[in-house]
Amino acid sequence: MKFNTIEWINGNIRIIDQTLLPVREEYKDIETVDELIEAIKSLRLRGAPLIGVAGAYGAAIAARECMSINIYDEYVDSLFLKIKKIEESRPTAINLKNCINRSKMIINNILNENMPKDKKILADSEFQSFKLKIYDALMKNAIETHKEDEQICEQIGIYGNQLINDNETILTICNAGSLATSAWGTALATIYKAYESGKKVKVYSCETRPLLQGSRLTAYELMKKGIEVTTICDNMAGFLMQQKKIDKIIVGADRICRNGDFANKIGTYTLAVLADYHKIPFYVAAPYTTFDTKAKDMEDIPIEERDADDVRKFQGIQTAPTSVNVYNPAFDKTPNKLVSGIITEKGILMPPFVESISKYLDQY
Ligand code: MRU
Repeated sequence: MKFNTIEWINGNIRIIDQTLLPVREEYKDIETVDELIEAIKSLRLRGAPLIGVAGAYGAAIAARECMSINIYDEYVDSLFLKIKKIEESRPTAINLKNCINRSKMIINNILNENMPKDKKILADSEFQSFKLKIYDALMKNAIETHKEDEQICEQIGIYGNQLINDNETILTICNAGSLATSAWGTALATIYKAYESGKKVKVYSCETRPLLQGSRLTAYELMKKGIEVTTICDNMAGFLMQQKKIDKIIVGADRICRNGDFANKIGTYTLAVLADYHKIPFYVAAPYTTFDTKAKDMEDIPIEERDADDVRKFQGIQTAPTSVNVYNPAFDKTPNKLVSGIITEKGILMPPFVESISKYLDQY
């Protein structure tokens, strides 16, 4: 399932502007680090794996922007500062940090290997070729990260398909589809692969207040593919489960801890509790870039809070008193005991997750 969610064209990142979907399918070119940060913060490009890929391209753009700096210390400081700003543009999705860390390692390796001890003896032409070397390496890494994301998402789909039976109905939240990754998606990759293998699948997509990624994006991409999808308001999910309309729940993740606790779009935890009560299997689908090797459990996950006006208004239209107090966490945390399995590119991880996740991460 291919959308041109992200491309590298003529030295720019080209994205589909997701804030305009499903009304308009418009592409936007991103040329600078500041433009990239704006696009990530405003959710023009969103979804944990996709912002990881964008972060890798962003590091290369940062290196390009620093090309004209001819003082070594100034060059290194500005490059790392720009990269830090990209890294901090969204705090919960660990993919961004993981991909940026890879870029930082590449820079540090070149700095350590290629610099003469006395930086001052570096001739201008040498310094130029050194900066070019950093840019080329970051660009190569971004292209590899992009390709790899597409391949691992397809693998997630292949493994996830094994869990889906013919004629099943799957409930999902937010958008963990092609639009949230380079291609295929994570949760939706499993549905795409089931559909392609000839199974009849139906999807309920929670609309996902406040920004409606479920109704605007998930419904849109599933319909484009010809998969039967029904959108519901988030507060309808429990009643659907009570009526036995849901066979499985499959969601994406923004950060998975070493014990299997995870963060995903606000509303995911509610679905997991409801699934447990109704004895419905609840799966998470994510690639290795979504695992936080430093996070022991959910206590270690920071939760992004977004603008109060996202709740008071929708697309400029007031939906609450202008000065009403608002609490607007973008994500919530689900404990591992509510998770039936984690679908990854290497297979389906089963409880106890401390062991299965550790074995899985050892492969990287
Ligand atoms: O705020 P968003 O739209 O970036 O939130 C996205 C999600 O919560 C997704 O479920 C998650 O990033 C996984 S995407 C494969």
